[in-house]
Amino acid sequence: MASDKNYIPEPEKRAFLKGAGLSIAALMIGGLSMERYVVPKDRGVPVMDNFPLAALEDPSGTRITTTDVINYAAASPSSTSSPILVFNYPLQDEPNFLIVLKGVKVTTPKTSPSSGYAPVSPSSNAPMDGIIYTNYNGINYSILAVSGICQHLGCVPPFLDYHPGKSIPFESKLIGYQANAPGTPAQWPDYGLIYCKCHGSQYNPLWGGRNLYNNGPASSPANHSLPQIMLATDSSNRIYAYGINSTNAVIRTHLQFPGGETYGSQVKSEDLTGGTAIRTSRTPTVYPSTMQTGDITSISSPNYTPLTTSSLGLNSNSSGIILYRTTVVSNEGTWKGSFSGSTSNNSS
Ligand code: FES
Repeated sequence: MASDKNYIPEPEKRAFLKGAGLSIAALMIGGLSMERYVVPKDRGVPVMDNFPLAALEDPSGTRITTTDVINYAAASPSSTSSPILVFNYPLQDEPNFLIVLKGVKVTTPKTSPSSGYAPVSPSSNAPMDGIIYTNYNGINYSILAVSGICQHLGCVPPFLDYHPGKSIPFESKLIGYQANAPGTPAQWPDYGLIYCKCHGSQYNPLWGGRNLYNNGPASSPANHSLPQIMLATDSSNRIYAYGINSTNAVIRTHLQFPGGETYGSQVKSEDLTGGTAIRTSRTPTVYPSTMQTGDITSISSPNYTPLTTSSLGLNSNSSGIILYRTTVVSNEGTWKGSFSGSTSNNSS
C-alpha cells in the first residue's frame, strides 16, 4: 500500500480534509459527513449486492420529473453560478450533481475503457448511456448526473461546483480560463465546467463529467473522470437513478486498490462499499415495471432505450424489487418543497 502513489495515510488525509474546511462544506450542503466516505469504515465490504433503483424526490417527499428540473434550471439566475442540485447515491453521504444542459445532446466521447478517455469529439448521434435526452416546449435538454466527489482528494459541493456557460469563477480565471480575450480563443466551454476550488480540477459536463486533464489552460490535478450516475424515467417522466456507468471511474473514496481506475464488475462492488444504504420507499412494492433512458424526445427514436427492472439486476426481497429514494436538494434558488439545507431525511 505504501508504495502506491495515490495512497494517503489516514492521519494525513484527515488533516488535509479538515484543513480544507470541508466540514464547512458539509454544513452548507446539508450535513454531509466528509470523513464517512473519505474513509469508509468497512471498505471492501459492499453494502448491497446491486445498485439501488432510487426515485429522486424533492425535500417534501414528492418525486420529481424532468419538467421540474428543467423549469428550475431555466428560472434560476446564472450570472455567477448555476444552482447546485445534489442528491445522494448510491449510498448516503455520497453527493452527485443533477445537471440540465439546454439545447444539446450529451453523447459518448470515450473510445473504449481500455484506451482511457482521449479527447475525441463526440461523433455518435446516440446519447450517452444513462442520460435523459428529452424535449420540453420545443427545446431539447440533456439531463445527467455525475459524482459530486472530486476525483483528486474528495472535495464536495460547494467547493466542487458547476458553473454554466460564461460564468467563469474567479479561481478559474487565475489558472488562465478566459471567455473571449482579444486575439485569444475562448477557452471556457460553452456549457461550462464543474470546477473544484480546492486545487483546480476541471470536469466537462458536456462530456459526461470526463476529466479535462491537461486540456485546460492548467493541468487538472485529478486523473479520474467523475463517475456518472445512470438516470432513467418512467412513463410519468419521474426521474430515477439506477446505477453507475460501468465504464467510468470508481468513486474515488471507494478505491480499494487506489493504483488506478478499474472497470467492469469491480466498479459495482467498489462503489457499493462503505457507508450506509439510502432509505427505501414507504411503499416498497410500488416500482416502475419499465423505464426509459437515452433519447426520449420521440418514442420511435432508435436511441430510445427501454429498461425493465427485471433486467437491471436490482436489489429485491420477498416483496419484490426494492425501490429506494433519495432527496434532491439545492443550496440556492427556489426548489420544490421546503429546502431546509439538510439531506438528513435521506436516512429516515
Ligand atoms: Fe478537487 Fe483537489 S480535491 S482539485
